[in-house]
Amino acid sequence: MRDKTERILKSVDTLGKMPPTLSKVMELINSVNPSPKEFARAISLDPILTFEILKLINSSFYGLANHVSSVQQAIVLLGLTTVKNLCLALSLAKKLNDGVHTRRHFDLNDFWAHSMSVAICAKLIAKKTGFERNECDEVFLAGLLHDIGKVVAFRTFPEDYGLVLDRSVKENLPLEELEQATFGITHAGLGEVIGERWSFPDWFTAAVAGHHATDSPDPKVRRIQVAVMLANFYCKKLGINGEKAGVGTYAPVAGEVFEYLKVNPAELEQFLAEVLPVEVEHAASFVGTLSANRR
Ligand SMILES: [Fe+2]
Ligand SMILES: [Fe+2]
Repeated sequence: MRDKTERILKSVDTLGKMPPTLSKVMELINSVNPSPKEFARAISLDPILTFEILKLINSSFYGLANHVSSVQQAIVLLGLTTVKNLCLALSLAKKLNDGVHTRRHFDLNDFWAHSMSVAICAKLIAKKTGFERNECDEVFLAGLLHDIGKVVAFRTFPEDYGLVLDRSVKENLPLEELEQATFGITHAGLGEVIGERWSFPDWFTAAVAGHHATDSPDPKVRRIQVAVMLANFYCKKLGINGEKAGVGTYAPVAGEVFEYLKVNPAELEQFLAEVLPVEVEHAASFVGTLSANRR
């Protein structure tokens, strides 16, 4: 098993260094007060990224009235946090997808569809329960990338990881337990390693590492964890994107989670049942862009 753990961790290394544009972007993100102008200039050095960001921003997902033709304009309309998170998500997706081919048990499109649904649902939960606007964007990013460890596990051991996924569904066993027993690391643990290697912000790495729990001692991380964990739960419960209700790794949510968010569970569920399917449908082109294999 130790062998497998080492190979998976090596596979994270082969993702390579962060692309130069992204390291510049990251530097700006981690600085206290990044200027939108500087940020837009950094993104514009990567024409493919710029093209894709603009494509997404003009998609029905954002529902903007007028066509947006520059990153700077996008920042004015959507805010710096939204654009920078989009940029992080797209760059990472592009890297991760590279060389991954859909096989039995694992389909990149399904993976990104699930990730997107969780991101949308987590953001809806955050909005509904009074998170601030920036926090809602952070929740979206963490939701979108919460399961990235699965792609790394799959690209390293397509056959073995496929079997683990299959067993988890068929025998209704917690995926994390099977991953730990087979590879010595879980997809959440791998997400943490990826976050660290790519110098993602600490809150992001901690939230991805603990996305099946709700007990982070850091209040900021805990709020994100709770939103992402609940989003995973509701996507499953409401059967979003073909998720089968009740199958998989999610135990019923403890009442204290709802108390923590100060929300009535029945009300929240009804709200999500009404709004989530529509929002997810709007995101179809977004999922297409994320799941495309590009070189
Ligand atoms: Fe997960
Ligand atoms: Fe998930």
